[in-house]
Amino acid sequence: MSIILNSPLDMHLHLRDGDMLKVVAPLSATSFSGAVIMPNLIPPITTKDELIAYRKRVIDASKDSAFTPYMTLFFKSTYSKEFLTQVKDEISAIKLYPAGITTNSDGGVSGFNIDELKDTLNSMSELNIPLAIHGETNGFVMDREAEFISIYEMLASNFPNLKIIMEHITTKESVALLDRYDNLYATITLHHLLITLDDVAGGMLQPHLFCKPIAKRVEDREALREVAFKGHPKVMFGSDSAPHPQHAKEASFCSAGVFTAPIALQLLTELFIENSNLDNLQKFISTNGQNIYNIKVPKKRVILEEKSFIVPKKYGDVVPIYAGEEIRYTIKEIK
Ligand code: DOR
Ligand code: ZN
Repeated sequence: MSIILNSPLDMHLHLRDGDMLKVVAPLSATSFSGAVIMPNLIPPITTKDELIAYRKRVIDASKDSAFTPYMTLFFKSTYSKEFLTQVKDEISAIKLYPAGITTNSDGGVSGFNIDELKDTLNSMSELNIPLAIHGETNGFVMDREAEFISIYEMLASNFPNLKIIMEHITTKESVALLDRYDNLYATITLHHLLITLDDVAGGMLQPHLFCKPIAKRVEDREALREVAFKGHPKVMFGSDSAPHPQHAKEASFCSAGVFTAPIALQLLTELFIENSNLDNLQKFISTNGQNIYNIKVPKKRVILEEKSFIVPKKYGDVVPIYAGEEIRYTIKEIK
């Protein structure tokens, strides 16, 4: 049996820069039609010139693939309406990081004071620029996302015309919030559909499964699976595939991030088939993202088949999820 996925999209992807970009960009660009590209470079992308130059480097690194990078800026409360008007046509969203919460986020937002944020958020709302948020407080690590719910509520109710994307949700509380506000949407990663905290730290520590937000409990994973499997229209696939060199992962002070991009479609296919929901994978992997972001995407057909595949131990210097292990589906053809 062949499985066909049309124009798959990754609505949250880290491609980095320099040599790393050259290794990882083709791995997404060959099988995906497009991806929302995160701006947390060093320094983060905060100007129009940086954004345009980075997009060009991404396109160059993607070789000749039919792949659209949907670019994002790193949120600053100092962005004026004039600046946002100038940059609007170049971006698909602005990504907000709480200061210091994850990789390269030191220049993010502290305190979430509405008076400080309101001018920029009102301008984004008027200009129809979506706000993508890494929703974690700096509280106890397992509670950070649940503690952020009140901030999502404050933002969703004060800016009802602002499209807010709760990035990489990991908890049942975030899933429940989705249906309470018309202007809230979410991305879900592959790894948070697959693993729980037990897989990361229940036995010997697994640095390649360590990420932010940390994987949670079985009941949280169940809540994520439920909305993903039914193709809930406010939920889309965003891998949060976040490559780090092997030495930065297999170390004390292990960097956060799971590298999933090259095998994401194969593993999603396996997971949706095992749970008898293959019919809804197209919504999760493309249709919902197109509708939420209101984007046109390059046409691509990815044909998969049931054929075992051994995940490479490394791509360049990056160790992927399930390195060296056997998975059940393979990409047969891309047209
Ligand atoms: O695990 C993560 N890695 N979570 C993030 O939010 C950022 C990412 C990265 O950039 O490495
Ligand atoms: Zn991310």
